[in-house]
Parts: sequence; structure tokens; C-alpha cells
Amino acid sequence: MDVTALRNKLSQLGQDHLLEFWDDPDLTDDLRRSLYDDITGTNVEEVLKFFETSTANMNNSEKVDERMEPIPSELFGSVTRSGKNLDRWYKDGLKQISQGKVGVLLLAGGQGTRLGVKYPKGMYNVGLPSEKTLYQLQAERILKAQELALELTGEKGVIPWYIMTSEHTKEPTREFFKQHNHFGIGEDDLVLFEQEMLPCVSFEGKIILDQKHKISRAPDGNGGLYRALGNCKILDDMERRGVTYVHVYCVDNILVKMADPTFIGFCIDKGANCGAKVVEKAYPTEPVGVVCRVDGQYQVVEYSEITLPTAEKRSEDGRLTFSAGNICNHFFTIEFLKSVVNENESRLRHHVAKKKIPFIDGEGKRIAPEKPNGIKMEKFVFDVFRFSNNFAVFEVLREDEFSPLKNSTKSEKDNPTTARHALLSLHHRWVLNAGGNFIDSDGTPIPAIPSRRAHDPDCYPVTCEVSPLLSYAGEGLDKICNGKKFCPPILLNQANVIAEKQDTINTQ
Ligand code: UTP
Repeated sequence: MDVTALRNKLSQLGQDHLLEFWDDPDLTDDLRRSLYDDITGTNVEEVLKFFETSTANMNNSEKVDERMEPIPSELFGSVTRSGKNLDRWYKDGLKQISQGKVGVLLLAGGQGTRLGVKYPKGMYNVGLPSEKTLYQLQAERILKAQELALELTGEKGVIPWYIMTSEHTKEPTREFFKQHNHFGIGEDDLVLFEQEMLPCVSFEGKIILDQKHKISRAPDGNGGLYRALGNCKILDDMERRGVTYVHVYCVDNILVKMADPTFIGFCIDKGANCGAKVVEKAYPTEPVGVVCRVDGQYQVVEYSEITLPTAEKRSEDGRLTFSAGNICNHFFTIEFLKSVVNENESRLRHHVAKKKIPFIDGEGKRIAPEKPNGIKMEKFVFDVFRFSNNFAVFEVLREDEFSPLKNSTKSEKDNPTTARHALLSLHHRWVLNAGGNFIDSDGTPIPAIPSRRAHDPDCYPVTCEVSPLLSYAGEGLDKICNGKKFCPPILLNQANVIAEKQDTINTQ
């Protein structure tokens, strides 16, 4: 260990504080070694360059209204407005799956600080009757999509599942899948890889120490995907398997439709190399990014980047002009991903997230600050839209496809309860549409739009869960549900209708 040389180098870069505790009696030789390796293993110059470029516009409140235009209608598809094309896209998507051309890629490297659990978010159980975790729901949707493709074409295609993890989530995720036999997914078809971590930096540009012997680090954002795809040779793996189209999504959306055949078929039909699934923005001031064009390039514009009149602007049909709410659900061709990884990745800029970052103070005490004291630098997965010259946008219904688990139950929005309710209410509607009916424990019919009743909490929202192995998106339920009465809570699974309570199912 050449500590003098390291000290000199850090001093030139204004980072000598990183060795402040080198001679501290708390530091054993092993800890000193580990600090030395931690610092020398960090490209400090690069980190400081990232800091400079990402903070240059940190306090810039420039609005982009004048430069913004909506996505042209010919690039837009919609589950409510695309009529008979939907069936064609759906079947085409299934054909691609059956030919093994579709892969799914899960972004699961986030720290999930708002939810506040110590394990990866995908392992969270929101309290469904089945007690399934987000990871299990997703695994089963992949299996079902493969089965639907097989039924349609007679050919069995595998959808490889790539999961991007980070230092915090990799091992627990790996262990969890192992414990559960990969939920039926072939071990070789589940590929975990790890994104990079970047040092956290104070507002003054000093790298923060998390321990006397350790730099504070955070994952480099979900846009760290592109660097990780290259570093971990994931694109090579995709090519080897013949994957041509990749569906990228976030871990926290409990309603996510993995490898959604309609979305895949739609993007292929449009000749897109990059596509975004969106939901209609609920109201003008909803804090959601919108997919649009800025200076002719596709982009997600955050609510804070536009003025209220632009947010409120409506088209002739009365819809918001900028209504394409981004839900982090994307389509990419492998060729597009290759061009990003090999040519454009370094052009992506980090965004700044001001955070409360625990640090070691001058006296060597670890402090958990009450106010933001530094920044994490993150790239965003959608920042590559601007490199696409063939882009497409597909609008889906929020109540069918988007309910993210972001917060703990302390918050009213996007929490475990809202996620559970969203899934139960979707499945309740599936069963109603398949001809099923619901009764409460007294035998009284439960109205299709139920209201809260203190004596029957399972009737609001109706506690009705359908296993993804039984139905991917509500299809095929008629034979099980038509003309039947169900008394919640119910869990419909592959083999049968399983009642959670005694005498809960009455067949008419
Ligand atoms: P969020 O931005 O919601 O972050 O991630 P998060 O880590 O889940 O939660 P908070 O902000 O700490 O509370 C959106 C998606 O991007 C992934 C997350 O795992 C989630 O699927 N992500 C985020 C990454 O894969 N890597 C990152 O560095 C950040």
C-alpha cells in the first residue's frame, strides 16, 4: 500500500479527508487495507467529473414548454382506441415469444428507501390471500405468457428473465430465488447481474465517508442499466439466445404485464426500436413525467420542467395535450440497446438526487442527518429515448396495469395497501367479466361496485385473487367463473377454485 502516493493524489483532487482516520486507533490493519482498496478501486477523477456535470444544472429551473410537442398520433397506440389492431398485435407478440425472441429485464437495483424494508422490494408481500411476493407474481406471469404463446402457435419459446440488481439487492435476491426453486423458471433462464455503485458526494463536492474505513455509495440509478449491460456482457447473452426484443420494467408495479404480447406486437408493427408504455395523466398537476418530444427528440419531461398553462393545455378531443404519463415500462430492440451501450452511454448525464446521507463527522462519529446533506448521482433508464429515431408510445389503462409500491403504509399513496387493492380490484373485475358473481357471508349479493361494510371487510375491495398461472390478463376464466357465486375472500388458482374460508363457494 503506497499511502503517501494516495494521500498526494487525493490532496490534489481536494479529497484528502478520505484518509482523515487512517491513523485512528479504531482502524485495524484489515480495515485500513479495506479503506485503501475502497479508495484506489474508485475512479475519483471520474466521480468528480460526474459531480461537476450533474450539478452544473442543479438549480436551473428553466422550463421547456416552448420546445415541447406531443408524440405524433401515428406513433401512438392505445388499448382503448386501437380497436381491432389489438388482437393482431397480441397474436404477433405471442408468436415472437414462441420463437424465443422476447426477453424481459427487471430493474431491481434500487434501495427502496421510501418503503423502508431491509430486503429487496421484489421480496415484499403486500398481503394477498396467496401471500405471493412481487417476484413470485412476476415469475408466474412469465410462465403464463410462455404457455399462451405455446397454445397459440404450438411452439414453446422461453422468455429469459434478466434481473439487474445492485450491491444491496443481489445476494438476497439470488438466495430468495434459490430457496423458492426460481418459482418454476428454469435456472438458466434467470440471469442476475449487478449495476455499479457511485460514491455519494456532499454539496461541496467532497466524497462522503459512510464509515471511517468506507466510502458511502449508492446505485447509479436505473439508467445504470446500460453500463451494466455492457460490463456484464448481458447483450452477448441475449444475442446467444436469439433475443431480439426486450421488455424492461420496474420491480414495484404490482400490475406489470411481463413481456406483454400486445405491447411487443404493437412496437414491432410500428417498426420501433424503442417504445414506452404510458398511462393517461390523471390531472394536469399530477407529479408524473410525460413522454413527448423536445427539440425533436423523444424525452420524458418532469412536471417541474413545465409551466401550469402547458400542463393544463388540452387538445381538440378534450384530453390533455401532454397526457402520456411515463410508467417506466419500455420496449427495446437488441440493436438499439447495442447502439446505446457501445456508442451513446457516455453521453447520458447523471441526475442529482439530494438525500440525507449518513456520514462520519470530524470527530469520527457517524451522523444520520435530518436534512439532505449531499447528493446521489443517478442516470435514468428513459434518458435513451433521445437516441431513438423510431419511437412508439402505447397507452394502457392505469387501473389495469399500473400500481407502484413506493411507500410504507405511513404514506397514503402507492403503498402496500393501494398495491394490494389495485390487484384485487382488477381480479374482481376479471371474474365479473367472466360471468362470476359475489355474495357476502350472509348470502347477500355484493354489488359490482362494492362499498365498505364493517362486518365483511373482505368485500371492500372484494378479496378476489387470481393466480397468474391461471390467467395472464383475465383470459380463460369463463369456464371457471361463468354463472358461479363466490364468497370472498377467494383465491382462484390453476388447479381449482380454492376457498380461503369454509363454505365460501356456492355453485349455482
Ligand atoms: P425508484 O426510483 O422508485 O427507486 O426506482 P427505489 O430504489 O425503488 O426506491 P426509493 O426511491 O429508494 O424509495 C424505480 C425502479 O428503478 C429501479 C428500482 O429497483 C425500481 O424498480 N432502480 C432504481 C434500479 O434498478 N437501480 C437504481 O439505481 C435505482
